[in-house]
This record gives sequence, structure tokens and C-alpha cells, in this order.
Amino acid sequence: MLEQNLELSEQIYLHKALFQNYRNLPDIPFEFNNSINCLYGANGSGKTSVIEAIYYFLHKKSFRKNTRFPQILNVNCGKPEILFQTSFIDNNKNLTGYSRKFTEHGMGKLNSPFKKKLSCFVINPLDSLLFNLKAEARRDFFDQNLSLISDSYKKHLKTYTRLVKQKNKLLHDYNPSVKSIIMILNQEISNLSFEITQERIKWVNSLNQLLTKNYFELFSIKHLLRFELDSKFSKFSTQDFVNYYTDRHEREIMLKRHYSGVHLDDYCFYFDDMISYEFCSLGQQKMSYLALFFAFISLYQQTLSSFPLVMIDDISSELDSERWKNLINFLKTKKFQVILTTANENFFQILKNSSDINEIFLSENDENAHLLH
Ligand SMILES: Nc1ncnc2c1ncn2[C@@H]1O[C@H](COP(=O)(O)OP(=O)(O)OP(=O)(O)O)[C@@H](O)[C@H]1O
Ligand SMILES: [Mg+2]
Repeated sequence: MLEQNLELSEQIYLHKALFQNYRNLPDIPFEFNNSINCLYGANGSGKTSVIEAIYYFLHKKSFRKNTRFPQILNVNCGKPEILFQTSFIDNNKNLTGYSRKFTEHGMGKLNSPFKKKLSCFVINPLDSLLFNLKAEARRDFFDQNLSLISDSYKKHLKTYTRLVKQKNKLLHDYNPSVKSIIMILNQEISNLSFEITQERIKWVNSLNQLLTKNYFELFSIKHLLRFELDSKFSKFSTQDFVNYYTDRHEREIMLKRHYSGVHLDDYCFYFDDMISYEFCSLGQQKMSYLALFFAFISLYQQTLSSFPLVMIDDISSELDSERWKNLINFLKTKKFQVILTTANENFFQILKNSSDINEIFLSENDENAHLLH
């Protein structure tokens, strides 16, 4: 326990960030505090881009789909390179600078001790809607967040995806001589499928310990929340997976792909024992989604003894002003650094009445506007 506290006391936070040639962002540093920061500005002023740039800097990818170097490079840049310059402060007030260059050839590495200590979790305005509508969004949300917590899950998932790609290639140009290779791949895919399923079950159980409590802590209303893995493979042993794929070999050849497996698993969210997306209002869906999001963050803290950077884009959407206040009060009790964005003036007024919030203004026209704190 003492060890854990010592480690937590070493937590670092993002102090300054300067992005050169990143979309429309101005060439001036943003300054953050170690608790709640709010980026406020009109549509198109660059709020999401700031969050995306920080995410890119830490994770070498965007949370937006199909966002590669040419899309994020400023269309009017002189030189085709993006520069991320940041500084971080630890609890002993030591300041350390980190920079990273990104060109069409790729992105430089981050020093590992730092990388271990800072991950960021992000929520986008459409996430909760998509989460309720699409299995793919639920899978991505779960896989992305759990990969930040569990290295083994991330590794298993990555290897599974690579092996399935290999298998699909063989199935696509199938001839009988590759059957034995497919059987070897099936064995490895089965081992991984078992591991992935077991980890999902374990982490879903851990999330469920926190969900109802989080919802109450967030919004002061009692509802019973339950998140479940919806998979026909939940009770499969490794050998069951091997048999499953052996039985489907002919069909896989016909369809030319590994058409069934844990990559298509789904999750179901229950709200007072009703299926959330069938029963809940949009606001309740968003609130449940936030409870789940913060459950992942608690697990991250418990598992890694470290605080992540939490970024919530367009925080005000779907929630009424009482929920905004609840959410802000909830965030104030937490020890992680938060970056929020909003284009909503009413929400911003509520924030302004709240103490200890770092307000950052962004303007589409005035490049220096965000210096006005
Ligand atoms: N590669 C690029 N170079 C220059 N500008 C870009 C590039 N890509 C996108 N933009 C512009 O940058 C702006 C980025 O908008 P962003 O999504 O960050 O705004 P926002 O403040 O989050 O707005 P909203 O409140 O509508 O969500 C947009 O006006 C977009 O047209
Ligand atoms: Mg935005």
C-alpha cells in the first residue's frame, strides 16, 4: 500500500503543449493546470484538434478514423512536418520537456519511463450514441480502454488480429497444400481466443463492481447498471475453439475468411435490468456511458498506480445543466488531470462560477485568443 502511494505521488501532468503545423492550431503554447481545464470556443475553432493533438502525441494515432499524416498536416504549412513540444510537471515540481516530430515517414519514439506514466482516455460527442447503436463501437471502446490498462490484453488482441489476417490471406487464395498451415494458425488463434475471452470476463466483472457506485457518485441518482459480455464463446475451452474452427473449415474456404470469432463479440449494457439502448433516454445513455468510462479510469488507477489524463470533447452535449454541475463536482474530487471542451456558452458560465478551473479560449479568427485565461 505504501509502495502504491509512493508511486502515485510521482504522477506527472501536462503543463504546456505547442503544436506546429497541426491542422488549424495556432503556433502558440497551451498551458494547463493539474486538475480541470476547459477549452471554450466556437465551432471549428480547434477544440477537438487540441485534444486530438495531445492524443496523437501520446498514442501515435488519432481517435478519429482514417486520420493519417496528410489529414492532420496544416494545409498551409511551409514544411511537411508536425512538431509536438510539451512539458510535464511531477509532484515534486520537476519540469521535463518532451518533443516529437511527425513526418510522412512516421513519428519518433517517446522515452519509455514517461510513456509508462501517462496515458490519456478520451470521450467524443458521438461516442455514447454510437456505443448504443453499433456493436463495432462497443468493441472498439472496450478494446481501446482495456488495452490502456492491460498490456497482455493489448498483446493478445494484436497477435490475434495479425494471425487472422494471415489466415484470411490463405483462405482467399486457398489450395489444399495450405490446409496444414491453417490448422496450425487455428491452434494459435484458439489459444488467443481463450485468453482474450477470459480477460474480457475478468475485466467486465471488475467494471461491474464500480458502475452503479459511479453512476450514483456522478449524478446522485440510484440506478442499477450492469455491463455484460455477449459472446457465444464465453464458456469455450481452447479445445472447443479448435473443434469449432475444424468443423467450419469448409465453410471458411467457401467464404474465403475467418468469419466467426471473438473479434465479433459484443457487449450489452443494462440499466435497471433493461437494455440501455432500448429503454434509456439519450441523456441516461450518456450518463451510463460516463459511468462506464470512469470505471475504466478507476481500474487504470488501481492497476497501474497512476493517474491518466482524461479528455472529454464537447462535454455538454445531451446533459442538462444539473448534470453538468454534478459532473464538474465529480471531476473536482478526482486526482487526474482533465481537459474538457465546449462550445456551449451556458456550460461555460457554470464552469466560470466554479473555482480552480483553467479556462482556455479558442477563436477561429484570432490566433492569440487562447492566451487569454
Ligand atoms: N489539415 C488541416 N489544416 C488546416 N485546417 C484544418 C485541417 N484539418 C481540419 N482543419 C480545420 O480545423 C478546424 C478544426 O476543427 P475542430 O474539429 O478542432 O473544431 P472544434 O472547435 O472542435 O469545433 P466543434 O465545436 O464544431 O466541434 C476546422 O475548421 C477544420 O476545417
Ligand atoms: Mg469539436
